[in-house]
Amino acid sequence: MFTIKDHLEIQDNHLIIGGADTVELAEQYGTPLYVTNESRVIENFSSYRKAFPDADIYYAAKANGSFALLRMLSRQGAGADVFSYGELYMVLLAGIPREKILFNGNSKTDFELQKAVEIGVKVSVDSRDELHTLSEIARRAKIEVEIAFRVNPDVSPKTHPKISTGLRTSKFGIPSEEVVSIYQEASELPGISPSGIHCHIGSQILDTSPFREAAEKMMDIVEKVTALGIDLKFIDMGSGLGIPYKKDERAPTPQDHAEAILPVFKERTNALGISPKLILEPGRYIVGDTTILLTRVNTVKKAAKNFVGVDAGFNLLIRPVMYDSYHYAVVANKASEPPSGTYTIVGPICETGDILAHDRELPHIEKGDLIALLDVGAYGFSMSSQYNGRPRCAEILVKDGEADVIREREDVEELMAKQRLPARLM
Ligand code: LLP
Repeated sequence: MFTIKDHLEIQDNHLIIGGADTVELAEQYGTPLYVTNESRVIENFSSYRKAFPDADIYYAAKANGSFALLRMLSRQGAGADVFSYGELYMVLLAGIPREKILFNGNSKTDFELQKAVEIGVKVSVDSRDELHTLSEIARRAKIEVEIAFRVNPDVSPKTHPKISTGLRTSKFGIPSEEVVSIYQEASELPGISPSGIHCHIGSQILDTSPFREAAEKMMDIVEKVTALGIDLKFIDMGSGLGIPYKKDERAPTPQDHAEAILPVFKERTNALGISPKLILEPGRYIVGDTTILLTRVNTVKKAAKNFVGVDAGFNLLIRPVMYDSYHYAVVANKASEPPSGTYTIVGPICETGDILAHDRELPHIEKGDLIALLDVGAYGFSMSSQYNGRPRCAEILVKDGEADVIREREDVEELMAKQRLPARLM
């Protein structure tokens, strides 16, 4: 047995995850199939907690909202960053206490704000307009809602433009120079208790210097807000820590993330004589490398390229198409065989762009082989769709060689589930 990438191993030519043989999993549960290694989720969460022993870790539920994962993380003491009422509903059901939830979002509905107020979660307010709507909702409900403002710190995270969130031109947050005056305004509004401050600069960040820069800029604002007499109880620095998708890629660890921001946080809060709680909102780091997508080869075609047609497309994994992202591919039933050709792995979707992996050196591939795409735990299943009339696939959780279905495969009836015909079309 040898290790291919951290918790993934190879035994008798087969790829093994969490002690389970992927070839057997695919036979038993069918493909496409998302497979998550439970122990790896716990390990990743523990690394974050170890790096930030005094902080609260609010898992970003958007990365992977599968209920079994939310339940596991809830049991580990995670809080949650939620971006919709749907996510709020799920994390509460998973047992995450309302005191450890932050309701984020740049365009929340009045219904969502109402729910946040009634349930009693903290709200990250993204605009002056939203502040006034929320104040009115809270005043009518005779409830005081704890808020943070989402700051746009104008920091470049040096990542893909579609996942940079703290640039000056981004749709998220309040421009830094307006933040202090909005705290003043908030402190005079009914129903509003300004008790925190929030930022999140982007995702898949591979260099920690933008984290430090954002921390410095946030602390400049904290200083000014504190001078207004506002007692900030929490400072939420978001997350965005990247993971290595390529085999020899280097990515910072939670420890590196901590080294970038903790000295700034500690030194400057001490200097101000305040002791706010630090909150972090990692998503990708916690779940990204825990999961693989198993997909079966339907057909191999030699044309301009060696095209390998598999049964998963961008309906199940949109990242390569949307962000040109790279997911390492392994032929799971030939995992120790040497490369014998260059293959492009394509999905079954009726779009030229439906390519999961370009020009990969892989062992000889033929119909029936099993391909594993690695590191798909974050923004994989959670961004899936039924495009092209394709029911979503199943999800399996493995632990010590045992597998459980955590989401059943959809069938074609699910495509019809909520559709109705007007009487004239009956
Ligand atoms: N907090 C907030 C407010 C966020 O918007 C996000 C991610 C996170 C935390 C978690 O960031 P993470 O630690 O996972 O980087 N679909 C894209 C990523 C979109 C990220 C959206 N916001 C992808 O597949 O790369």
